[in-house]
Amino acid sequence: MSVTAQSITAKTVVAGVAGAPVRHSLSPVMHNAWLKQAEVDGVYVAFAPHQDRFKAFAEGLRGGAIRGLNVTIPFKEQALAVADDASVLAKAAGAANLLLFHEDGRIEARNTDGEGLLQAIAIQAPGFDILAGPVTVMGAGGAARGAVAALLEAGVEDIRLCNRTFDRAEKLVEDLAGPPAGSLVRAFDRPDHAVDGAACVINATSLGLNGGPGPDTPWRLMRPEAVAMDMVYKPLDTEWLQSARAHGLRTVDGLEMLIRQAIPSYRAFFGADPPKFDVRSLLLQAGAAG
Ligand code: ATR
Repeated sequence: MSVTAQSITAKTVVAGVAGAPVRHSLSPVMHNAWLKQAEVDGVYVAFAPHQDRFKAFAEGLRGGAIRGLNVTIPFKEQALAVADDASVLAKAAGAANLLLFHEDGRIEARNTDGEGLLQAIAIQAPGFDILAGPVTVMGAGGAARGAVAALLEAGVEDIRLCNRTFDRAEKLVEDLAGPPAGSLVRAFDRPDHAVDGAACVINATSLGLNGGPGPDTPWRLMRPEAVAMDMVYKPLDTEWLQSARAHGLRTVDGLEMLIRQAIPSYRAFFGADPPKFDVRSLLLQAGAAG
């Protein structure tokens, strides 16, 4: 373990993650490993507030009782709502995965999921330019909304949303209330239309989680050098990613995204970059992809 009860003092900086359920979260493993490696006097713990009590829980932390929180399902939207200030990306995503509790009482919301997504693609598909062509997002829930916000922020001009429930994809497009000039976001009900000529496809549905096929994706219609990115990381190598590789695509996994969204969170909590350390192997050992 990275901290022992004996090593915690009155000066120890506290951060954590809130979710319900939270027991499966890998964030404590990751952050505490970094803290230990960097010999930072900090600790990162998991909180599972009652489903209906998140607002009261977060309000109670005003004034810096703890430095900050990562927020996961089902609290990301409520985290944005409870904050006094929010980053452009958090507002665009309609959700926050990071809350900072300032000493003056303010709560600040940020969203680092989008950065995690783009970084994961940059690392596992080196040389791929996210601006190279159309990007298709499968899904229309919170994860898809975050992906679209990040893609727009990165300057992707042609974003296609494809979802089982078409109305939900249309609603997401409407909610964007006019994407930045030069960008087009469209809803599709047919995967073959959505991926035709696409340079990248992102699985932001929950399909494939704990095994089974991902969303129907006609790979052969995509560009030959295309990239498939799966936000699902359990299992690590999803059937959907295997199928993409079998059709010659390059693939990017969700565990890399999880790690990459944690780096700016650590920086915000503890004021420095996490140390260079193979946290990916550690997470795999901890059963990340099992
Ligand atoms: P999250 O906030 O993690 O995105 P969500 O809002 O529950 O979670 O969204 C889950 C996504 O997975 C949705 O796009 C959902 O499609 P619907 O909007 O049609 O429900 C998609 N999804 C889940 N199960 C699916 C299935 N069996 N087939 C196709 N899509 C599915």
